[in-house]
Amino acid sequence: MADAVHLGSGKVRELYALDAERLLLVASDRISTFDVVLPTDIPDKGRVLTGLSAFWFARTRSICANHLLALRPDGRSTECRRLSMLPIECVVRGYLAGSGWKDYRTTGEVCGHRLPAGMKESDKLPAPIFTPATKATSGHDENITGEQAAALVGAERFAEAERLSIALYQFAADYARARGIIIADTKFEFGTDRDGRLVLGDEALTPDSSRFWPADQYAPGGPQPSFDKQYVRDFCEKTGWNKTYPGPELPIDVVRGTRARYVEAFEKLTGIAFDRYVKDPTVTLG
Ligand SMILES: Nc1ncnc2c1ncn2[C@@H]1O[C@H](COP(=O)(O)OP(=O)(O)O)[C@@H](O)[C@H]1O
Ligand SMILES: [Mg+2]
Repeated sequence: MADAVHLGSGKVRELYALDAERLLLVASDRISTFDVVLPTDIPDKGRVLTGLSAFWFARTRSICANHLLALRPDGRSTECRRLSMLPIECVVRGYLAGSGWKDYRTTGEVCGHRLPAGMKESDKLPAPIFTPATKATSGHDENITGEQAAALVGAERFAEAERLSIALYQFAADYARARGIIIADTKFEFGTDRDGRLVLGDEALTPDSSRFWPADQYAPGGPQPSFDKQYVRDFCEKTGWNKTYPGPELPIDVVRGTRARYVEAFEKLTGIAFDRYVKDPTVTLG
């Protein structure tokens, strides 16, 4: 990458500066589970994440400005506007799962939202809720209340991020539901541009940033199978791994099954054959 300066590595992405205004985000095939990056790659996973994000970015511009400038022919590199990222993760939940379910069970609330009594795990919420979290530099993100998040970013920014996050989630959840996928929850990252405008950044509405459930298997009252990572999770549970570094190597059937599920999520949601995307990533932008 002769034209780019390496800025850093996330769990999944490599970040490069193209110039003062533009970044290159390169999505690797790394997979993490329980916040641990596993030693085995899932071929094409980075392409799926990049293509899906671009697909949503192209379709949600009327809801919210985003950082996407261009996709590179490799299908895993996104040229984007460089933003100053907000120090919160903007989580929207449409269903009761994960830490939301845990919090509800002990307090009847999720991040300060009081919910009806008697809800079951994986139930659909009466309406989507905004449940921000801190951006942990290492380890797990921590849920915070709206007041705490507003203190971190300012009350007006907070209200704007909440409104946009819910609108984005609602649009995508309806879109996905019609194609057989429940987006149970998702996480957005916003930043501000040079003019102080709020802009959607990072990846958006991918299996890595969201809980995708197969709609035809939806059965509240317990945890739902994950559309994409279930093979990996089941395998990790079987090995008795203690969920700290280093994670286990994945066997070839787990790799193949997981790759197939990522590709299936891409094809179901976009209606575009993955091979077409690999030949020409810009098909997602139409
Ligand atoms: N437009 C942008 N400007 C600046 N930083 C960004 C932008 N979009 C995404 N980022 C940051 O790039 C990183 C993406 O790499 P990733 O591997 O997803 O990291 P993480 O392990 O934190 O999830 C994140 O730290 C994210 O906040
Ligand atoms: Mg990330």
